[in-house]
Order: sequence, then structure tokens, then C-alpha cells
Amino acid sequence: MKKMKKKILIADGVSELGIDILQEEFEVVERPQLDKEELLATIGEYDAIVLRSATKMTAEVIAKADRLQVIGRAGVGVDNIDIEAATAKGIIVLNAPDGNTNAATEHTFALMLALARQIPQAHASMAAGRWDRKAFLGVELRNRTLGILGLGRIGAGVALRAQAFGMQIVAYDPFLTAERAETLGVRKATLEEVLQAADFLTLHLPLTDETRNLINRERLALMKDGARIINAARGGCVVISDLVDALRSGKLAGAALDVYPEEPLTDADELLALPNVVLTPHLGASTVEAQEGVAVDVAHGIVAALHGEPVAAALNMAPVAPELLALLQPFFPLATAVGNIAVELAEGPIEEVTIEYAGALVELDTRALMTTVLQGLLNPILQEAVNHVNAPALAKARGIVIKEMNNLNEGDYTDTLTLQVRTAAGTQRIVGALLDGRPYVVAIDDYEIRFAPEGPLVLVPHADRPGMIGKIGTLLGENGINIRGMQVANTARAGHNIMAIAVDRMPAEDLVAALRDIDGVDAVSTVYFRGM
Ligand code: NAD
Ligand code: MLT
Repeated sequence: MKKMKKKILIADGVSELGIDILQEEFEVVERPQLDKEELLATIGEYDAIVLRSATKMTAEVIAKADRLQVIGRAGVGVDNIDIEAATAKGIIVLNAPDGNTNAATEHTFALMLALARQIPQAHASMAAGRWDRKAFLGVELRNRTLGILGLGRIGAGVALRAQAFGMQIVAYDPFLTAERAETLGVRKATLEEVLQAADFLTLHLPLTDETRNLINRERLALMKDGARIINAARGGCVVISDLVDALRSGKLAGAALDVYPEEPLTDADELLALPNVVLTPHLGASTVEAQEGVAVDVAHGIVAALHGEPVAAALNMAPVAPELLALLQPFFPLATAVGNIAVELAEGPIEEVTIEYAGALVELDTRALMTTVLQGLLNPILQEAVNHVNAPALAKARGIVIKEMNNLNEGDYTDTLTLQVRTAAGTQRIVGALLDGRPYVVAIDDYEIRFAPEGPLVLVPHADRPGMIGKIGTLLGENGINIRGMQVANTARAGHNIMAIAVDRMPAEDLVAALRDIDGVDAVSTVYFRGM
């Protein structure tokens, strides 16, 4: 039967470069500007969605997203996604945090300079046929104090550039260390101190419960008379009616906004009627470079997530820093393989899973390997796709107890990952090791064996007596199955051994039954290693 391609909805406009990456493997449907009802009606068809800020992934939409495995945000802000609801449903949420940083940083400067020199107003005046040099007396940035709220990627970029303009920088960010403030040439201060000191105040905050309506009447009152505000972060951080009052009363000399509490901003008249207001329609990330950057980043994240791989930019799974990801990468196929084998060998429902790490793994954060082992165990038996977010919850829902431990004893192999799976019938133990950087299964229970987990494999525990290899090989050959490689374990126990046969295709069920009927065969298990 032909395998159905996974389906991805592109809900807001994103660059073709990202779409091309997704189309190589998946069915991509572009439907920008879907309204809420259309989204609710169609979201159930998709395995992944890519969006910017316009599409709202509310709990209501997520409840209908029965196939959805991943939500990819082509940009930074995820305030349009209910991450809690997504996590509860086992859906990975990822963003593209770096691709538009420079664009938003430069746009902040464009707004600040336009505000200081009233460029849009001067342009409009000329467009109306006037030549008015007196009306547009500006102020300089040099020697003025720039207050920054939120010194993350964009805040830091603004701070560095502002220094080249000769500005002094004072910043409020509760997560900013004194060392980083010093490196960035910024004075760290409280919120009140920043508000009192700033000639220009710029916001680079996420929208959270703490930052919503942060700039309100009381906080505006703390600012210097004649200060100016720039907001290219999130509209919900500023109470627009309080801002309008402060501009009207002359408390503030001007404001430049790129973002609004409700977007699109339908009623801009009140703001535009004021003399020194500069508005852009959420253009911070609207450069060719940024749109290509975020689209490519989010597409790679979606591909990784749909392949069941850990995603560096995922927001609701154990974070895997790129350096850690590079160290763990060779172990992922191993973790999947030991899971795949254990679930085939386990007799009855699994009660407990113990994962043991040795060698290089002892020093590393192995949470992503634990979830990979669970994917290897659960994906072959569950209808729904198991991923790094839902794996622990799915295991728990099946009553599986998960244990992890480091093994400091020296064995025959250095870098190993051992999986023990307990059922009511007994315990199975699979050991995987990295040899010259390549994954091998090196033990199954007490049997020492060595094979690379690739493609279809038949595992045959059997009586340790002459002629077994011939009988099994002959039956496979007679049924048109080519043997790519065969390993018999080095150690036999009490007259029994195991063979691992790499084949060119999976034997059908009747052939597996015929293999089981061979005198001396204890059991037959088939495993398909998809790799990563
Ligand atoms: P970031 O996560 O790198 O930085 C945010 C900073 O805010 C962090 O340093 C964090 O410690 C700080 N912070 C969090 N809560 C705070 C609080 N209560 N008070 C003070 N500081 C707090 O994010 P970023 O990439 O720099 O983006 C900043 C904002 O800009 C986000 O809201 C993002 O969505 C928005 N953005 C807008 C555009 C646009 O088109 N206008 C483009 C890109 C990003
Ligand atoms: C972001 O958070 O990345 C920005 O608001 C830009 C965008 O949505 O395009």
C-alpha cells in the first residue's frame, strides 16, 4: 500500500525557500488568511502547521487538531499559540528565534530616527506641495539616554548600535546578569530607574502576564517630560489609550509603533491625528533576508520534528542546545533501535523501562535520548505518532515506569546505552554501543552479538545445535528473501543461542509462522529499523 504523505498547512505567508524544503518530502497546502471557522474546520487534516502572528492557535483550534504533531512559528513571538494546550496534546511547538533579529533591530532604529527627525511628517508635507523647513526641527540621538526594556536578542542588538550613535544605555531585564550588562556596555537598572532616565524608551519584551499593559498611565507618569517611546515588540505591552493621553498632554514628545494590541489596527485615526506619531503595520521582520531566514529555520525544525528527531528550537520539549545535539546525534539511532528490539521481544505489556548510560553519556543531559528510546518502544505499537513531547505522557498513560541511571562500571564497550524492559513474563536487556562513531547492537539478554541496526531484521532465538543456520537460511531463500548479513551470538546459554539476520525485505506473516515451526526455533521476531 502506498504510504500517505504527511500534510502541512502554511497558514500565513512564508518565503518559498522554506516551502521548497517542506515540499521535498511532504504535501504542502498554502492557505494564507484562513479565518477562525475555516481553520477549525480544516485543522484536523494536517500533521503540521506553519504560521506567523496572524493565525491564532487557541485551545479551541488545538482541540480539533487530532493529527497535528508540530506547530512551527516562522518568527519569534509565540503569544498567538496556546503552548499549554499544545503540550497537553503532545504537539511540539517550535519557533525560528534568530532569523529576524537583525531585521527587527534595524527597524527599531528606523523608527527611532524617523521619530527624532519627523521624517514621515516631513515627507507627507512635501507630498502635499509644501517646503516647510521650520516645522520639522528634530532632536539628536547623541548624548541622549536610551532606556531598553528586555535585553534579549533584539534589545542587545539595539544597545550595541545605539552606542555607535553616542547614546548612553540603561536597561531593565530581570534575567540580565551583571556580566552580560557589562559586556554589552549597558547600565542595569530597575524598571522605575529606566523609565525615569530615558529620553528614548524602546521595548523588546515578550508578551507575558507580567509584560501585558506594562506601559500604562502610572508608568508613563514616571517618565521624563518630552521623552519618546518606540515599540516594535508586542502591542499588548502598551496601553494605547494611556499612551494617546500622554501624547496629547505633551507629557511625551512622540511615539513610534510597529505593533498593536489588536492587529490589524483598524482604528488608527486617533493616533495619526497626533503630530509626532510614526506607525508601521508590523513590519519589524519584513525584510527579504529575515523572511527567508525564518522560513528556512522553521522548515528544518518541522522536518526534524516530523522525523521524530529532537528540535533545537522546540519550546515545549527538554531543550537541546546545538552543542549537546551534536554530541547526542550518533546515539539517537541507537536509542531508537534498542527500543524497537525490546518492544518486539517483550512478552506482554511493559511495566518498567530502565535506561542505563555509560561512557561519554554519563556526562551529558540525556533527556532527549530517553524520549527517543520511548519513541522506539511505542511507535511500532501505537496508532498515533510518538514524539519528544508526548512520549513520556504516553508511556505513563500505559502505566510504564521509567528509570534512568548512569553505569560507571567498565565493560567491553565504552559508550553504551542499555535498555531493560520488564514485563510480567520477565526482563529483556538490549545493549547498544557506538563503535568508531557508528551504532551497533552488541548484546541481547546474555547473548553477545554485534549488528548494525539498519533496515529489516529477523531475530531468531534457537536451540544451539548444528544445521539451524542452514534450515532458516534455506526457508528464507525459498521465499525470495535475500540475506544481507547474518550474525550468531558469541555466547550460547544452556544450549540456546540467537541469530540476527539482516534481510532485504520483511518476511510476510505466514513465512514468520513457518520459521517458528522449524524444529529448534524458540521464537521469531521481526524489527524494521527506520534510522533517523
Ligand atoms: P528574546 O527572548 O531574545 O528577548 C526578550 C527579553 O525580554 C529576554 O532577555 C527576557 O529576559 C526579557 N524579559 C522577559 N520578561 C521580562 C520582563 N517581565 N521584564 C523585563 N524583561 C523581560 O526576544 P527577542 O528575539 O529579542 O524579541 C523581543 C520581542 O520582539 C518579542 O516580543 C518578539 O516577539 C518581538 N519581535 C517583533 C518583531 C516585529 O516584527 N516587530 C520581530 C521580531 C521579534
Ligand atoms: C516575531 O515575533 O517574529 C515578529 O512579530 C515577526 C513576525 O511575526 O513576522
